[in-house]
Amino acid sequence: MQTAAIHMAPQSHRPSGRGARSTGRPVSLSADPLRFASAYHAPVMAAAVVDGLVTDRAGIYIDGTLGGGGHSDALLNALTPTGRVIGIDKDAEALAASEERLSYAVEAGRFRTIHGNFADMEDLLADADVEAVHGVLLDLGISSHQIDEAARGFAFSADGPLDMRMDASTGETAAELIDRLDVQAITDLLRAYGDEPRAWPIANAIVEHGAFATTGELAEVVRSAVPAKEEVKTLARVFQAFRIAVNDEMSALERTLEAALNVLRPGGHLAVISYHSLEDRRAKHYLRFGNLEGEAKKDFYGNLLTPWNLLTRKPIVATPEEIQANPRARSARLRISEKKPDPQTSHPRQRES
Ligand SMILES: C[S@@+](CC[C@H](N)C(=O)[O-])C[C@H]1O[C@@H](n2cnc3c(N)ncnc32)[C@H](O)[C@@H]1O
Repeated sequence: MQTAAIHMAPQSHRPSGRGARSTGRPVSLSADPLRFASAYHAPVMAAAVVDGLVTDRAGIYIDGTLGGGGHSDALLNALTPTGRVIGIDKDAEALAASEERLSYAVEAGRFRTIHGNFADMEDLLADADVEAVHGVLLDLGISSHQIDEAARGFAFSADGPLDMRMDASTGETAAELIDRLDVQAITDLLRAYGDEPRAWPIANAIVEHGAFATTGELAEVVRSAVPAKEEVKTLARVFQAFRIAVNDEMSALERTLEAALNVLRPGGHLAVISYHSLEDRRAKHYLRFGNLEGEAKKDFYGNLLTPWNLLTRKPIVATPEEIQANPRARSARLRISEKKPDPQTSHPRQRES
């Protein structure tokens, strides 16, 4: 387990970014899809997230993927002055940026951050003396800031060290991972996490090249193994696959879905935003059936045995206006479930979205 570290922002900072100071009054979030965007990151479907997550405006909410604090800002704006948000992120840069942006809420005792893996949510919250919460948000993947910073090594379009760790303080870098894998292991990784049809020739070119130091070197070797017209899509798939492996993203997601059930109070909501099918399949199965396999277990009377009431039978997607303003929103899928008020007796209900 990673140790929880509570970070408080300096008292003197004022809010930054486009978020407004919380008034405690209900706010309309729908007009401007970029209202809570900042130079760090533009949160997707902020209005739908707030609408679907908040069941008690004086409640306590976990933003498990804090990033630039955009969703946290939107939540804080919708809550009353006693409502609270706790932001978790593996990335120390995300914590620092959010503390500065949300200093108005830090000063009011309504917002704090925890450095750690969201998969360790139960322990992190227990260490912070937080008991059952009203809502948990997971906005998966990486932030625009992480992609834009060449030094973080996530981007194939900019040259930087081949790192790709969300938590830059620990673990194996992409360069170290690639260096210890053989052709078969790299092929399997590219197929499993990138759905890469040319996995074998790319893996061969990578192993033939030997040790890598930079994203530029890896991009060049991948380019050499595919036709020119396939380059950009292939690079996106290959870099995504290594990023998922370096950060152990699938196993973290699986663990955190279970953990979220345990930290939520009955009637609390779990909202998951996914950006590719590997994430979305897991979210879809777990939020409906309570298991990752998507197995519909039923009782003697044919009622689905699940701790969740699925609130979004189909995923919520961004509007064309939002996609135009923020192209990253195009692949986003938002699914929301309610932890059953009484898991023993209540039966699932569903709402079309
Ligand atoms: C898409 S961004 C979130 C952006 C955020 N919603 C906002 O409004 O700015 C995802 C964030 O989750 C973090 N993250 C991803 N996996 C994580 C994990 N297992 N534990 C903690 N943080 C994680 C990343 O470091 C990144 O900052």
